[in-house]
Amino acid sequence: MRQDAIAILGGTGDQGLGLALRFAKAGRPVVIGSRKLERAEEAAAKVRQEVPDGDVEGRTNEDAAARAPIVILSIPFEHFASTVKRIRDKLAEGQIVVSMGVPLATAIGDGAVRTVGIWQGSCAELVKTLVPDGVQVVSAFQNVSAHRLQHLAEEVECDVLVSGARAPRERVMALCALVPGLRAVDAGPLANARIVEQITALLIGLNVRYEVPEGLGIRIAGLPAGNSGA
Ligand SMILES: NC(=O)c1ccc[n+]([C@@H]2O[C@H](COP(=O)([O-])OP(=O)(O)OC[C@H]3O[C@@H](n4cnc5c(N)ncnc54)[C@H](OP(=O)(O)O)[C@@H]3O)[C@@H](O)[C@H]2O)c1
Repeated sequence: MRQDAIAILGGTGDQGLGLALRFAKAGRPVVIGSRKLERAEEAAAKVRQEVPDGDVEGRTNEDAAARAPIVILSIPFEHFASTVKRIRDKLAEGQIVVSMGVPLATAIGDGAVRTVGIWQGSCAELVKTLVPDGVQVVSAFQNVSAHRLQHLAEEVECDVLVSGARAPRERVMALCALVPGLRAVDAGPLANARIVEQITALLIGLNVRYEVPEGLGIRIAGLPAGNSGA
């Protein structure tokens, strides 16, 4: 495992591909995971086309999960539990799993401007119940637009509210600095993912009402200078 690598499971989709492009552009090794090896390899080739010196490989989700200290789950909410169960044997103590999932009501055939309730409190807390002991879960990136991530020429104007235990939280906050325009905000314990995940449904409604297909972001006003994330 390379200590600076970042694995993105479901990195073949819009949001995961966007993060893969940004992290590759920042010079970090990226492992894109998919249920199908060919799809992962295709996505990795797409990233290399846009970032020719990018260090990117495609793997199955199971392989990808074992190849990086930070593993980002970039799959629709309704497939989180089944995916984590499939890869959990590959996770080892000390790894960090990042939950980016939003429990949109599309999971039950309803709209994306609403969410469904989760017994554990949030998608991130659901993940926490499923990973092996010693694997940390951090919540991040739910409020960032895939479209803006994929447009490498422009900055991504958004704050990233990062929550989880302090040490892994700080490591994920540091990832935000790799993407121009993103700013990490220390959102404290993992339970605050309950609030952060809901903001995405609100943003989707705002995108529609304000006709911003590129996707809106959020900014926290008034953070003290020099204390605005890792
Ligand atoms: N799109 C956005 O702007 C955005 C913004 C903020 C947060 N998010 C969150 O980021 C996550 C990914 O969003 P997305 O828009 O990238 O989703 P997506 O494109 O719909 O799906 C991402 C990937 O999930 C995998 N997948 C699909 N069905 C699956 C299944 N049954 N089991 C396991 N994996 C499956 C697919 O990968 P393979 O077929 O290659 O396995 C797919 O490429 C979601 O939780 C979403 O709420 C998205």
